[in-house]
Amino acid sequence: MIKLFPTVDAILHGGDYNPEQWLDRPDILEEDIKYMKEAHINVVTLGVFSWSIYEPVEGEYHFDWLKEIMDNLYANGIYTILATPSGARPAWLDRKYPTSMRTNSKGMRNLHGERHNQCMTSLAYRAKVCKIDTLLAEKFGKHPGLIAWHISNEMGSECWCDSCRVQFQNYLRDKYNNNIDDLNKAWWTTFWSHKFNNFEQIDPPSPRGERSIHGLNLDWKRFTTANTISFMKAEIDVVKHYSPDLPVTTNFMHLYPLLDYNKMAKELDIVSWDSYPRYNTPNETLYDTIVSDTFDNVIYRSMKKDRPFMIMESVPSLVNWHEFNKAKRPKVHMLTSIHSIACGSDTIQYFQWRKGRGSYEQHHGAVIDHLGRNDTRVFNDVREVGETLEKLHELQGSLIKSKAAIIYDQENRWALEDAAAFSSKTKKYPQTCMEMLKVFMKNGVDVDIISSDEDYSDYDFIVAPQLYMLKEGVADKMKIFVNNGGTILATYMTGYVDKTTLCFLGGFPGDGLTKLFGLYTEEIDTLYPKEVNGVKFIDGGLDGEYTVKDYCDIIKVQTAKVLAEYTADFYKSSPAVTVNNYGEGKAYYVGARIDKAGMDNLITSILEEKGISYNKLPDGVEYHCRELNDNKYDFFINCSDTDVTVNLPGAGTNMINGDKEEGEAVIKALESLVIKR
Ligand code: GLA
Ligand code: ZN
Repeated sequence: MIKLFPTVDAILHGGDYNPEQWLDRPDILEEDIKYMKEAHINVVTLGVFSWSIYEPVEGEYHFDWLKEIMDNLYANGIYTILATPSGARPAWLDRKYPTSMRTNSKGMRNLHGERHNQCMTSLAYRAKVCKIDTLLAEKFGKHPGLIAWHISNEMGSECWCDSCRVQFQNYLRDKYNNNIDDLNKAWWTTFWSHKFNNFEQIDPPSPRGERSIHGLNLDWKRFTTANTISFMKAEIDVVKHYSPDLPVTTNFMHLYPLLDYNKMAKELDIVSWDSYPRYNTPNETLYDTIVSDTFDNVIYRSMKKDRPFMIMESVPSLVNWHEFNKAKRPKVHMLTSIHSIACGSDTIQYFQWRKGRGSYEQHHGAVIDHLGRNDTRVFNDVREVGETLEKLHELQGSLIKSKAAIIYDQENRWALEDAAAFSSKTKKYPQTCMEMLKVFMKNGVDVDIISSDEDYSDYDFIVAPQLYMLKEGVADKMKIFVNNGGTILATYMTGYVDKTTLCFLGGFPGDGLTKLFGLYTEEIDTLYPKEVNGVKFIDGGLDGEYTVKDYCDIIKVQTAKVLAEYTADFYKSSPAVTVNNYGEGKAYYVGARIDKAGMDNLITSILEEKGISYNKLPDGVEYHCRELNDNKYDFFINCSDTDVTVNLPGAGTNMINGDKEEGEAVIKALESLVIKR
C-alpha cells in the first residue's frame, strides 16, 4: 500500500487557509484554530498566494508569521501542505521584471494584475521563483507539520512573447532533428504555400497569423505542456532538495483544455484536482452532475493507479464564478464528499476555510462565513463530513481495481477538436467518453480512464471512443492487446491521422487497424442535430433497434461479422456494428453514435462474455469498490431524491453505524452506504 503522506494516519479533511489576510486580527486567527478542531479539520494548504506578504519589497523577507501559524496548527493536530507562491506575483516584481508577465495571442504584453499571469520561459521570473522557493523550503522543508508541497496554483495557459516563440522554435528544432524538411512534411506545408525554409520563420499559432496548420497547432500545445512541466520541475527540484521525503503535487482542473495532464502527472508524487461541479442545476439530474464529476475523478485516479488521488479543492456551499451560484442543497455536501472518497480520493479539501472580506472571492463559499459562526448549516455539514471521514479512516490507501478501461486522450482531443471536419458542434469527444463511462456506472462496474499510450496489460476490455489520432505505437499495442485475448471496442472517427495529424492512406481505421477490426470505412455521414437514423441488431445474441444521432460510418466489411445494420437512408441495411475475431480476442467496431440503451445492451453483453461482474443499479445510484489487503469497501451513492434498494455484492458491516448488512439494503434519498466486507 502506498500512503500518500508517510506521517499521516487519517483521511485528510481541510483546505486552503489564507491567514495572511487576517494578520491584524489575532482574535480571528485564534478562532480559526478553535473552529477547525470543531470541524475535524486535520490539514490546511498555506501560502498559495502569499508572495507579497513574504517579500513586500524585493529582498526583504517576512516568514515569521508563517512559522507561528504552522507551529500553532501543528500543536493543534493540523498538518500543513505548503504551496509555492508562483501563481500570483507582487506588483513590484512585475514592474521590475516585466518579462514575468504573459503576452497575449495578439502579441500584447499583459499589465500587472489578476493571477496566473506568468510567462513560464521568462528567465527573470524563473530566477525570482527559484529564490523565494529556496527560502521557503530552507525554512519550512523539515517542519514536522509539513506533509506535502503544492506547486504553484492551477498551472496553465499560453504565452506569445518573444522568449516563448524562441523556445517553441528550439522545441521544434529538437523534435524534428533540426531538419526543416521533416517538419514541412509532418505539417503538410506545401498546401497553401506554407513551406518554411528554417525554424526561425515559425511563429506560434495565433488569431493574427497562422491557425490553419493542424500540425503546428498540435505541436504548440505539446510545447506548452513541455514548457509548463519544465517550469514546474524547476520548482519541484528546489523543494525536493530540502524535503526529499515529502510528496509534491499541483492542482489540476476540470477537463482543462490546454495541458496534457497525463504528462505532468509523471513528474508528481500525487495527483490532485479542484472539483467544482454545478450541483442541482435545472438542466440535468444530480446523478448526471455527479457522474460528470466521476469522469474527472476517474481520469485523475487513473493517472496513478497505485495510490489514491486528492481532492485539493471543493466547496462546502456555493462558488462565486458560476453563472448562477446556487447554494449546495441539504445532504449534498456529505453525498458528494463520500462520492469523492468512493472514487478513490484520500482527501476532502475546500477552497477556502474562511471568506475574505474583500476583492474577487469575497462571496465565494467557505467553511466560515462573514457571519463568523460555527453553527451555520454549512459549518455543520462540514463538521459532519469530518466526523464521517474519521469513521472511514482505515480505508486510506485502498485502491480501485478495474478490469476495463476507457481511452480518453488529451492529444487526441486536441487533434479532433482542431480538425476541420465532421461537425464543429457535435464532435463532443469528452462527452462521448463520459457517455461510455455512464454505461459502466449504470452497471456498477469500476473502469479506469487512460490515455492511449498507457499500458493495456491490466485490462480485459478497452473502449476507445473516437480515437481519431493514433500516436506512434498505439495501433500495435491494440493489436497485441486483442491478440492476447483482450476485447476492444472502437467507434466512428477511429484512426484517421497519425501523431503529426497526417491522414493514414489506404483506409480508416489506419495504421494497420483495418486488419484488427476486419473492415474499412468508406465514408462518414454527419447528421444535422434534428436528424436520426437507427440500427437494428441482427446477430451476436443481441436484438433490438436503437436510435442513432450525429455520425454514421459507411462500412465495408472484410473479415468482421456484422452485428447490426442501419435502418434508413442510402446506406440502409449496411453494417453499423461489427465484431472481428483477432488472435485470442475480439475487436468491436461501432460505426454510429448509438443511444444509451443500445450501448448499454452491447457493453453489458461484452461484460458478460468477459466475465466482468456487473450489478444493474437503480436509477440515480453510483457504485464503487475500494480494496485494501483482504478488505473490500463497497460504496453506494444514492443521488436520487427517493429511497432505493440495492443488491449488495456480499455481506459486511456498515462503516458509519456498525450495522451488519447482507443481501439487499435500502438507501435513503441523497444518502450513501459504505460497507466493509
Ligand atoms: C480555483 C483556485 C482557487 C480559488 C477557487 C475558487 O480552484 O485554485 O484559488 O480561486 O478556484 O473556486
Ligand atoms: Zn512568454
